[in-house]
Amino acid sequence: MGRQVLVTGGTGYIGSHTVVELQAVGFDVVIIDDLSNSSADVVDKIEKISGIRPAFEVFNLLDSVKLEAFFEKYSKIEAIIHFAAFKAVGESVAKPLAYYRNNLVSLMNILDCMSKYKVPNLVFSSSCTVYGQPDQLPVTENTPKKDAESPYGNTKAISEEVLRDVVKVTPDIKVIALRYFNPIGAHPSALIGELPSGIPNNLVPFITQTAAGIRKQLSIFGDDYNTPDGSCVRDYINVVDLAKAHVVAINRLLNNSNADRYEFFNVGTGTGASVLEVVKTFEEATGVKVNYKIVARRPGDIEKIYADTTIANTVLGWKAETSLHDTLLSAWNWEKKIRNIE
Ligand code: UD1
Repeated sequence: MGRQVLVTGGTGYIGSHTVVELQAVGFDVVIIDDLSNSSADVVDKIEKISGIRPAFEVFNLLDSVKLEAFFEKYSKIEAIIHFAAFKAVGESVAKPLAYYRNNLVSLMNILDCMSKYKVPNLVFSSSCTVYGQPDQLPVTENTPKKDAESPYGNTKAISEEVLRDVVKVTPDIKVIALRYFNPIGAHPSALIGELPSGIPNNLVPFITQTAAGIRKQLSIFGDDYNTPDGSCVRDYINVVDLAKAHVVAINRLLNNSNADRYEFFNVGTGTGASVLEVVKTFEEATGVKVNYKIVARRPGDIEKIYADTTIANTVLGWKAETSLHDTLLSAWNWEKKIRNIE
């Protein structure tokens, strides 16, 4: 058995892909998930891909009694990847308390247990949302953070500060925060992928559902931004590449004792793509037309953001590998599989 890693939110979108990559290199994975935004059969799919069934415990991380009982049971855990969180920007504006409570208290419960049960290593899911609309592009890790645009974004910014302050006074704990840009795509097996409940908020699930005929039309939010074609620019990162960044981060925590105890890295491709470019690349990759119309800007959207990934490339030795074309094709293959489209 390999070294044991806890993955919270391990049946979710990024979590499930990360469990697969961890198992592929020999880690012994334990998942905690409350299934509030995912389903238990993801564990079967992970097993189908890996040939290994991860241990799986269903409970909510706000329940500190259950969390302590969990660490009593799994005493060999050496590292934690903490994905479990609420992530819908719009919903967070309507329900700020639910977001602050869920995302912050769960992190604090985990940090308590790390001290109590001597688990020294944590990888935290952060987001490029902590930069807001930066004054300079691409953004480096040292680009000043702006006020968060939403309670969701603020939970990520506050979590990073909590981690920084706790690490300062807890010499036994090491943390890597990964600031994800826009994760998209699905596993090449098409057995796991992104499964939004209801109408998707994010661009790529909306595109694939429109192509599948589930949605009539994609609305493109604005074509009058100060960008080459007027639509917003983002850094779309393949979810398997992103999952691999977590494996690299875990190995760094477990094996590199010279690293700073609190580090944070941009995880993106380093290249921006506009909404219109994403639609065009999807059409080219799949041969399927996407019915779209240009509508008004979406409140709260930033104009453009993409990563400078130099530090992740050099210090972590990690680089995004998959093209936007191949990633969009993987998203379409996943959508077709779950909708039984030939
Ligand atoms: C947002 C959050 C990010 C969060 C992510 C996960 C902000 C600034 N960013 O990213 O922190 O991690 O969601 O949910 O809040 N678009 C359309 N039509 C659509 C959907 C999207 O044109 O139907 C456009 C948007 O205007 C945007 C781009 O597509 O320019 C990407 O949008 P989306 O996938 O929602 O991600 P972000 O808003 O970038």
